[in-house]
Order: sequence, then structure tokens, then C-alpha cells
Amino acid sequence: MSEPRSFEVVLFPDPVLRKEAEEVSSFDDDLRSIVDGMFARMFESHGVGLAAPQVGLSRRIFVLNDEGDAEKPDRNLALINPTIKSLKGDKVRFEEGCLSLPGVHCDVTRPDRCLVHAYDVEGKAFEMEVEGFVSRIIQHEYDHLQGVLLVDRMTPSDKMRNRAAVEELKAQYRAARP
Ligand code: CO
Repeated sequence: MSEPRSFEVVLFPDPVLRKEAEEVSSFDDDLRSIVDGMFARMFESHGVGLAAPQVGLSRRIFVLNDEGDAEKPDRNLALINPTIKSLKGDKVRFEEGCLSLPGVHCDVTRPDRCLVHAYDVEGKAFEMEVEGFVSRIIQHEYDHLQGVLLVDRMTPSDKMRNRAAVEELKAQYRAARP
């Protein structure tokens, strides 16, 4: 058994959030401690999903719990090397936030359903078709593995509305790196 890694959330505009994440090749104790640490960080931050680049690791890993409830581990999902095989259903508009973009919120239009293939933490392949909120979380977290962020999915009016929060994050990032 390995201890969960201890992680902080990496904030925009850290460049790790912009990199395309790399495939995981070994399903070992190190991966297990990363996944456990990501779940711990996600729950502590009151999130429903967290991707590895958000803890500074450019790897194709994300975790989610659609109720954001650590007491409901049956809702936990960890997806390693996921691929979205198809997107279907009605396009739905719904407000999203992101732990790497505190204070930023915008409506994002996404297909309601997706078929996703991934590996679990043991390296066992699985496929699931999901809809609604779980599908939305998976699509949002998958974006992170591609280096895509909420700020890329904003309409011009969303950009206007979130400008102050985005500029503040940029200023904080610069101030922390003199
Ligand atoms: Co996010």
C-alpha cells in the first residue's frame, strides 16, 4: 500500500494546464497514490472532477464524483488514458466552473451523452455510456487532458463578464513569480 500523494490545485494561467497530457504506461503503486491523492484534493476543494494537469502532472488521468461527496465512494470514477469514442444526444447548455479558474463561470454547450473508453487504476479496460451531469464532467475533464480550458469555450459576452476574474488570476500568477 502506498500513501496518497499530497496535491494543491494548479491555477490558470500555469502552462501545465495548456499542455496535451501524456499517456500513462505503468499501472503501479505510484499511479494508485496519484489517483488517491487526486480524489482527496478534489473532495477538499469541493469539486466534482479533477484532471491530473490540475495538480501539476501532465498525465492522462482524471477523477470524478458527480455528487462531490467523499462519503459516497460508489460515485467515484477514475479514468486513465480515456478516449471519447462518440458524443451524442441533444446539445445542452449548462453553467460550468473549474477548480483551476476560481471565480470564473460560464455556460458551456455540450452534447448530453458520450461513450468513453478508459482504463481503471488496475489497468483494466472499460467502456461506459453516460449522460447528463456525469457526461458533462467527463467532457470537461477530458478537455483538461487536451489543454483546453473554460476560457476557450466562452462566448464574447462570457469573456466580458469574466474578464476581471481572469485578469486577477493572471496578476496573481505573475506576482508569485517575480
Ligand atoms: Co476544470
